[in-house]
Amino acid sequence: MLSFFMKLGFIGTGNITSDVITGICRSNLKFKQILISPRNKNKAKKLEKKFKKVKIAKNNQDVVNKSDWIFVGVLPKVANQILPHLHFRQNQTVISFVATLNLSNLKKKIKSKVNLVRAIPMPPISLGLGPIVMCPPNAKVKNFFNKVGTSIEIKNEKLSNNFWAISGTMAAFYETLKNLSDWLVKKKTNRRKAQEYVTSLYFALAGLALENSDKNMKKFVSDSQTPGGLNWQGVNQLRKAGYYKLLQSSLNNLLKRLNKS
Ligand SMILES: NC(=O)c1ccc[n+]([C@@H]2O[C@H](COP(=O)([O-])OP(=O)(O)OC[C@H]3O[C@@H](n4cnc5c(N)ncnc54)[C@H](OP(=O)(O)O)[C@@H]3O)[C@@H](O)[C@H]2O)c1
Repeated sequence: MLSFFMKLGFIGTGNITSDVITGICRSNLKFKQILISPRNKNKAKKLEKKFKKVKIAKNNQDVVNKSDWIFVGVLPKVANQILPHLHFRQNQTVISFVATLNLSNLKKKIKSKVNLVRAIPMPPISLGLGPIVMCPPNAKVKNFFNKVGTSIEIKNEKLSNNFWAISGTMAAFYETLKNLSDWLVKKKTNRRKAQEYVTSLYFALAGLALENSDKNMKKFVSDSQTPGGLNWQGVNQLRKAGYYKLLQSSLNNLLKRLNKS
């Protein structure tokens, strides 16, 4: 169990770190403090101001020295540069958010024998929502992430890369929502109303499918259309144009990149 004395550290104070910290601070997780690296300066200052238990460290090594668990939220190139120069204590827990750096490469960069976990938090973690895929399984980390979302443990790293690939479609998803909203705006709907309609519709549709996860997604596709109807026309036009084949091909390319990392 996590204790009140637990000290959490973050290296790389960027977008995903800010979201994870927001999720943690809004949850009922018990911890003593969150120490963040000073870079990015603006984001670090904002987090320190917003949350009482968040403090800015002197530098990355200071984060490592004063924390029990260290989350790594930097870009892959930066991780490659900084990790070999940081001195971790044996048995510290290091949770890497870095997409394209596999466990064996991480082990080469981090010389000490730490408990290493790769995790995929996504921005809705700030609201305590969404899945957090992690590999390898680690009971404490799993319990932790279950307080800010839903942990999904994957034993095999190669399998976990499939989930990383899916996580790489987040921007494409938002691009779809943007396209739908922009289209409504062009048809003279107020931007806010357009976005609210599109996002609440897709949120509800996903919610319904989530509630019925025992059913094959195929059922939702067929139940949501009648031959010759609007949904039938919409999905078939996209199918014929190769829209979904392109989506599969984009996933395969993301996976190729991940499997090489
Ligand atoms: N964003 C997501 O939804 C998401 C989800 C899952 C995993 N990830 C992974 O998380 C990592 C971070 O992604 P992000 O989107 O949060 O990127 P980001 O917003 O660019 O954050 C990276 C942070 O690292 C800081 N940094 C740069 N050099 C540093 C150094 N030497 N020491 C300490 N910090 C340094 C940057 O500061 P400056 O701004 O000053 O350069 C920036 O604040 C990536 O590897 C990504 O694959 C992201």
